[in-house]
Amino acid sequence: MNDTSGSGGASRLRCFDVARRLEQPVSTPLRLQLDSRPAAALAALLPLLGCGEEAAGIAFDGLAECHSGDDRAAPTLRAIAEEERLHDMLIRQLERGLPEARQDTFQIESARRFHIGLVRGGAALHLARIAALDAAVCTMFGRLLRPGGPIAADPEVTSILRRIHRDEARHVRVARRLALETGSAPALRDAAAAARDGLADILLLARDAFEDMKVDPASLGRDIRRLPDGLLVA
Ligand SMILES: [Fe+2]
Ligand SMILES: [Fe+2]
Repeated sequence: MNDTSGSGGASRLRCFDVARRLEQPVSTPLRLQLDSRPAAALAALLPLLGCGEEAAGIAFDGLAECHSGDDRAAPTLRAIAEEERLHDMLIRQLERGLPEARQDTFQIESARRFHIGLVRGGAALHLARIAALDAAVCTMFGRLLRPGGPIAADPEVTSILRRIHRDEARHVRVARRLALETGSAPALRDAAAAARDGLADILLLARDAFEDMKVDPASLGRDIRRLPDGLLVA
């Protein structure tokens, strides 16, 4: 694990050495309007999300290499890797506008090991896990951005999370299509279901933060563990 401060105000632990991290434009920190409790909760959750974005950038770079002979898939995968780096930057930008979170090394190390494990078994299984996880992230963002909730009260946070949400929904479609092109659907579903369980376990570590953002962690956990029926059906 790397202990670097990056260019943001928050000096969070980094999960991965990211070769082509996007630097934030020099700008004043966001002026967020969250109440102190959800602000602290969001700050506590962001390192986990940031770890996922770092991992996703590395993953899509690797998948683009695996598909380098495919003139259609490789550029798409490279473009997604770039989007994941943008998400990482946006999350660091959000962190700069929030109270500094306690560094939870156990949580971050757990997340790091989880993401490293996603590559096993080859590109098709990796893509299936990514499709399942990005779909789970969409579910989580849907809860965080629920109208009337404390996170949705802040327009800058909402705008950033919506942007990431929209991209992740597209990543799901690309990853599932490519996974189904080469993998066997039952094996893909098994790998994806296990990845959803693993993500639910990681998010359990942040259950207090979800409660402070008025997201029921038990209900979220149940929905994340349930692989959507049609997600990996040929
Ligand atoms: Fe992302
Ligand atoms: Fe993604």
